[in-house]
Amino acid sequence: MKTVILGGYGQLGTALEKFSPETVVALSRKNADLTNIDQLFAKLESLSPEVLINCAAYNLVDQAEAEPDAAFAMNSDAPARLAEWCESRGIIFVHFSTDYVFGGDPNRDVPYREEDAPLPVSRYGESKLAGERNVLAACHQSFVIRTCGLYGPSRSPGKGNFIKTMLKLAETRDELKIVDDQRCTPTFTEDLAEVTLKLISTPAFGLYHATNSGSMTWCELAKEVFRLRNLSTVAHPITSEQYGAVAQRPAYSVLDCSKLSETIQVSLPTWQSAVERYLNLAESE
Ligand SMILES: NC(=O)c1ccc[n+]([C@@H]2O[C@H](COP(=O)([O-])OP(=O)(O)OC[C@H]3O[C@@H](n4cnc5c(N)ncnc54)[C@H](OP(=O)(O)O)[C@@H]3O)[C@@H](O)[C@H]2O)c1
Repeated sequence: MKTVILGGYGQLGTALEKFSPETVVALSRKNADLTNIDQLFAKLESLSPEVLINCAAYNLVDQAEAEPDAAFAMNSDAPARLAEWCESRGIIFVHFSTDYVFGGDPNRDVPYREEDAPLPVSRYGESKLAGERNVLAACHQSFVIRTCGLYGPSRSPGKGNFIKTMLKLAETRDELKIVDDQRCTPTFTEDLAEVTLKLISTPAFGLYHATNSGSMTWCELAKEVFRLRNLSTVAHPITSEQYGAVAQRPAYSVLDCSKLSETIQVSLPTWQSAVERYLNLAESE
């Protein structure tokens, strides 16, 4: 199946291109800009994909509070147009969303399933929720995959992720204060890419959760990274309030991925295994 990936030079796009077994064209922002949708459609017409995968997104969670229009344009309006375009041509559309569509229930302590009512606590979460609803409504051959805290290599230079940030900070700091009251499951892009490619080769369209298995706080993740790299930097737990980010994050946003594993008969590896494999990969680059 001829596949085109938008946002193809980002973290997830890079992993999807690496694992795609068939004809795949990964487009960067430079040659396929979602904010210039008419030019983008002309480009897509010339490529005639059978599957269109959208990895492009506005991912600046804090900045979205100040510029919600930009977040909604990228995360909601553009995916809606792409989904309509795919529907009118019988093309399969694949789109990614986030655990940040949840978070409004302060007492939650069991993983969220696809049928649970979303309740975002940030403008970013609202924009991604609007996007996933638009896509599912516009294109019946669509997959919307919610994931969490991605990390992985990317073709686009200078892309950051939490683990990279921790390693960078550890070069100069003996102690760090890290948020310890947000429980979720950050996910290795290569693990996500493998299950995504399996899922989209089935006709089981719809909404899915896909993260590594288990759960952690950001402080726990930092400690594991320092342990695996034999770094002496100490991660001290703090609250989200103490950290003081502009946008609120969910206190609990672990996703139940059993629908995905029942559909493709594969479960994602544990988060500990994923972090270790990512660090080994990052070391060999
Ligand atoms: N990253 C996370 O922690 C996370 C968590 C949950 C869900 N997700 C979702 O997973 C998907 C993939 O995320 P990711 O981590 O791969 O993100 P990423 O590494 O930031 O990649 C996104 C790509 O989109 C491109 N892009 C930005 N604006 C664009 C535009 N106007 N037109 C075309 N391309 C544009 C970026 O280009 P440049 O390289 O030029 O910036 C980048 O290559 C997204 O839907 C995201 O919302 C991500």
